Amino acid sequence: MKQKATFITLEGIDGSGKSTIIKHLSKLLKSEKANYLITREPGGSAFGNKLRKLILSSSHIKHPLTHPLLFYAARAEHIEMTIKPALSQGTMVICDRFHDASHAYQAVHHNLDKHLKTLDQWIVADIQPDLTLFLDAPVELCFKRIAKRRKLDTFDQQDKTFYESVRSRYLARAHNDPERIKIIDASQSIAQVCHACYHAIQPWL
Ligand code: ADP
Ligand code: TYD
Repeated sequence: MKQKATFITLEGIDGSGKSTIIKHLSKLLKSEKANYLITREPGGSAFGNKLRKLILSSSHIKHPLTHPLLFYAARAEHIEMTIKPALSQGTMVICDRFHDASHAYQAVHHNLDKHLKTLDQWIVADIQPDLTLFLDAPVELCFKRIAKRRKLDTFDQQDKTFYESVRSRYLARAHNDPERIKIIDASQSIAQVCHACYHAIQPWL
């Protein structure tokens, strides 16, 4: 039986440089005529994109599982409609965020680890990334990079505390699964980060 193609995910807190690096990697892979697909979460399918708009504009949500369930609903569609078909056709999939993001972001406020593991067994199942690049940089640096995008000059202490926890959760996952999750120093220049990511991907090409 034909082995499935490689599934690579990029993770990091907002402003760590994922979209930028994916654009550069895409150019490199294109020049090598690689067979690849770039996708992202939340989103990545027609219904997933509708859910993305809903999720990113939602506020006043009471139940702690509402948000995670919406992310996993989008993920379920993304897997069935986009990721599985691509992998089964031998296309390498590069995805901007995947299930590690739910573990890093959604579990910060409530102790949801047990529920997220159940959702992983149910929805992610055998569509585990082969390689995850965690773009790691200090929260304040990431904040500075996206200050313009958010039309904010500063982030408040609550934001800082939240993103510090998200970063710690990503780091803990990386330390627990060093074979899959590679930590990339994202405080370096774009060229250096891109080089490190490409170096990590190369064995999978
Ligand atoms: P993310 O997708 O992780 O939120 P982006 O790729 O959108 O982050 O990057 C946020 C901003 O930071 C963009 O303006 C981008 O040009 C800039 N940026 C990204 N990576 C770097 C880097 N290594 N050094 C300096 N600026 C960067
Ligand atoms: P994204 O568009 O990737 O933001 P950015 O480009 O700033 O990194 O993701 C939107 C937001 O969704 C981001 O703040 C992270 C969050 N998110 C979760 O909280 N859980 C998830 O499972 C995913 C995929 C994203």
